[in-house]
Amino acid sequence: MIITIDGPAGSGKSTAARTLAVRLGFDYLDTGAMYRAIALALLQQGFDLENLPPHLPLDHIQIDMRPPLVFLNGVDVTQAIRSAEVTAGSSKVATHAEVRQFLVEQQRKIAQGRNIICEGRDQGTVVFPRAERKFFLTATPEARARRRLSDLLARGEKTDLETVLRIQEERDRRDASRHLSPLRPAEDAVVIDTTPLTLAEVIDRLERDIRG
Ligand code: DC
Repeated sequence: MIITIDGPAGSGKSTAARTLAVRLGFDYLDTGAMYRAIALALLQQGFDLENLPPHLPLDHIQIDMRPPLVFLNGVDVTQAIRSAEVTAGSSKVATHAEVRQFLVEQQRKIAQGRNIICEGRDQGTVVFPRAERKFFLTATPEARARRRLSDLLARGEKTDLETVLRIQEERDRRDASRHLSPLRPAEDAVVIDTTPLTLAEVIDRLERDIRG
């Protein structure tokens, strides 16, 4: 059984997906981490992510998803892919046709024959159009930025709400306006506005819906 959870950054989908997977005894796939790993690999190879060539040496990039860890060519990059540079870079590489094709193929392979929750932007629309359950989480830009801010502060980064909002807006615009697999709910997705909800309430709501 495949469950997809899509939505913009800060909608609460990652934490919800991870917790829900534990409750249901499902595996969990964070597809955003895969785009982040590609961004990191290309940055390490000296590519300018704003001006990527149409063909990329993706065959040399090996990503191993071993939740909660992410390995890039055998190296643990779980922390490195959360930097501000990689975060901005991930939405740039996500507009690249070869990158999307490369990752979509791997995501389908990983999910094959498993009970799994796949979380990202295009899981319900493009990668698993026949998933048994699809959710799309949203929240106002301000609510999302506040959540992200508290994550960043907890990690010891120095930033403020205004900066987080500005960077988030830029990333949202890129994710929603790109021509390949833009961020949008699948027609058969259950859309949940998480603005007024606590994370525990979001998870309960999803669990009720799935067990329903
Ligand atoms: O969920 P995240 O913030 O870790 O995702 C990082 C970037 O990857 C995000 O800006 C858009 C892209 N992404 C995507 O295009 N498709 C996915 N399924 C997941 C992420």
